[in-house]
Amino acid sequence: MSVLEFSRLREDPGWLERVVIRPVTAADLPLLEWEGKYLHFRRVFAGAFERQLAGLSVLWIAVLDCWAAGQVFIQYDSDRKELADGVERAYLYSFRVRPELRGQSLGTRIHQVVEEDLLQRGYRYITLNVAKENLRAQALYRRLGYRYIAHEPGRWSYPDHEGVWHQVEEPAWRMEKRLFRE
Ligand SMILES: CC(C)(COP(=O)(O)OP(=O)(O)OC[C@H]1O[C@@H](n2cnc3c(N)ncnc32)[C@H](O)[C@@H]1OP(=O)(O)O)[C@@H](O)C(=O)NCCC(=O)NCCS
Repeated sequence: MSVLEFSRLREDPGWLERVVIRPVTAADLPLLEWEGKYLHFRRVFAGAFERQLAGLSVLWIAVLDCWAAGQVFIQYDSDRKELADGVERAYLYSFRVRPELRGQSLGTRIHQVVEEDLLQRGYRYITLNVAKENLRAQALYRRLGYRYIAHEPGRWSYPDHEGVWHQVEEPAWRMEKRLFRE
């Protein structure tokens, strides 16, 4: 689907009702690349999918008419237990919605699905890192009930689709939300 077609979707007030939010399948993995924009994360997505198959993660995709409208990944366990401990604390990352569809509450809806799933699995906290300069995302997280917990240097590295390693440094805030049923 082209950028223009996604933009036109915004004019259809019913588009949100057609979105299905579910764990990814192997066949969905190319959709996460957004027609090439995230090709460099192909190996990262494949690794995360392997962890989903092992029961350590879940990769949520918001599908709209066979296209990826948004996504978020949840990691149940981690070496860093303050982020995810496999028991009561899970870590949220790689959260994004198509630029043409932002600000229409899809991100909020994705969070609702994630939180319900985590509650059913017995988790009580959800953590995330958000870039210090990403003020709009922080505003959303605050509205959703997250609070600031700690500074994170935000250093990580990944192999791109050709196996070339890249270093990323993005100072961030760790934020956390206590989960409970309304
Ligand atoms: C953050 C994001 C996933 C939210 O999805 P969404 O569908 O726009 O979220 P909702 O419509 O439920 O909520 C909208 C709120 O998200 C926040 N937001 C962040 N970036 C935004 C953007 N580019 N456009 C619109 N809203 C944005 C705002 O707080 C907004 O509140 P407002 O409508 O009062 O301004 C999405 O905006 C996005 O993909 N941003 C770029 C990637 C990103 O920053 N991811 C978070 C990394 S920690």
